[in-house]
Amino acid sequence: MNSSLLLGALISSLLFSNSLLSADQTTLDKGKRLYLSNCIQCHNKDPNLKGSLGPEMVDAPLSVMTSKVMTGAYPAVLPAGFVPKRKSKAMKKIPKLQNDIPAIYEWVQSMKKKK
Ligand code: HEC
Repeated sequence: MNSSLLLGALISSLLFSNSLLSADQTTLDKGKRLYLSNCIQCHNKDPNLKGSLGPEMVDAPLSVMTSKVMTGAYPAVLPAGFVPKRKSKAMKKIPKLQNDIPAIYEWVQSMKKKK
């Protein structure tokens, strides 16, 4: 294969993977936007850190985030290995976000610091 063919193949594979990536990027952007507009009056802008009222949330599984957002409370039965960061019951439910919780969760996890 000559080098211009190789370059063409490289460019088209990059373009292709980029278009696959951008679907995912749209979800992440949406999750971030919704997090910043609905969560940071209590939680930190960086979900790895404590906020003014709410704790860091990178360790909470999707089921816990769903329960907190839909009901304000932790699930009655906690997922194995999950320990709530707080014993308080200060979070209010935000059920209008029902369909957007996976996007918020995906963005939060994309921000998680590797240990
Ligand atoms: C009114 C303040 C407030 C807002 C707004 C809020 N939270 Fe919370 N959140 C809290 C507090 C306080 C806790 C600790 C438990 C409690 O008191 O309810 C918490 C706990 C959590 C937890 C559990 C963390 C853990 O590991 O124990 C998750 C997940 C969570 N919030 C997600 C969210 C998301 C996502 C949003 C935005 C869509 C949000 N919260 C908006 C106050 C808030």
